[in-house]
Amino acid sequence: MKPAILVTRAIFPEVLTRLSEYFEVESNQDDVIFTPAELAAKLKGKAGTLATASAKINAELLQQLPDLKMVASMAVGYDNIDVPACTAHGVMASNTPEVLNETTADFGWALLMATARRVTESEHWLRAGKWTKWRYDSFLGADVHGATLGIIGMGRIGQAIARRSMGFDMKVVYHNRSRLSAEQEAHANHARYVSKEELLAEADHVVLVLPYSPASHHCIGAAEIELMKPGATLVNLARGGIVDDQALIAALRRQRIAAAGLDVFENEPKFHPDFLTLQNVVLTPHIASASEATRRAMANRAADNLIAGLTEGRPRDWLNP
Ligand code: DGY
Repeated sequence: MKPAILVTRAIFPEVLTRLSEYFEVESNQDDVIFTPAELAAKLKGKAGTLATASAKINAELLQQLPDLKMVASMAVGYDNIDVPACTAHGVMASNTPEVLNETTADFGWALLMATARRVTESEHWLRAGKWTKWRYDSFLGADVHGATLGIIGMGRIGQAIARRSMGFDMKVVYHNRSRLSAEQEAHANHARYVSKEELLAEADHVVLVLPYSPASHHCIGAAEIELMKPGATLVNLARGGIVDDQALIAALRRQRIAAAGLDVFENEPKFHPDFLTLQNVVLTPHIASASEATRRAMANRAADNLIAGLTEGRPRDWLNP
């Protein structure tokens, strides 16, 4: 008999077809968002799950699921998974690194450009029928070329963002848990390792791509924003909880920094309603990895992990070997 698995959210149909060669698949193509109790009920008796970042996999859930062997997440960030609790319950966990690096870096640039050059703000104004004449001072933004880019979190996505900055003749400063090798720094547009405080003070554009954890919770708050240059911009591609929304809203409101671009929010899909009252923020619904090819690659990588985990006991992107 094939092991039973749950796919927690809607997914590409061909990936379900692949999974059904190996497993009895319970899918959720209606894309219902399960409550924790519903998720626990759905996972009862399942050997594995292909889950998205919206599923909270914690000790409370795992202790109700003695049959569960594997959680394959379709995301690179895995702050939704308590990996030590998985290990304690004998559950393998995996994520989907690498396949989304370049697409996410592309989107980081889209958000940076839109934020610095006021693309969405000016488009909304045009659509509202407000464009009656060209003016020398309409929608003046911040230059990107020649500016200093600050990247907090210099993993593979951060490095891909830095590489792209060469075309804009930018300087790059970065902060990371550990310093990159000299060779990696050279490939990342000769990025210079600095403290978080130095980065915030030096950068014209700050991009957040660090993992979310209790240690990075609200690591950009009022004090950090106060260190930023007056015309600076801030882009968050990582997780909403990294930024203190109240502090950012207050800073944007008084134009302490020029603008922000946010693809992630603390309680997605909810977000602080005050963001909607601000013109100098670009808001997107967690789509940095959302290219056709990359979302398929992520789904297939998660499926590969689940298949390898449940058939061979060794998922490729094993988080808790
Ligand atoms: C990721 O892969 O971590 C993206 O943010 C999607 O959740």
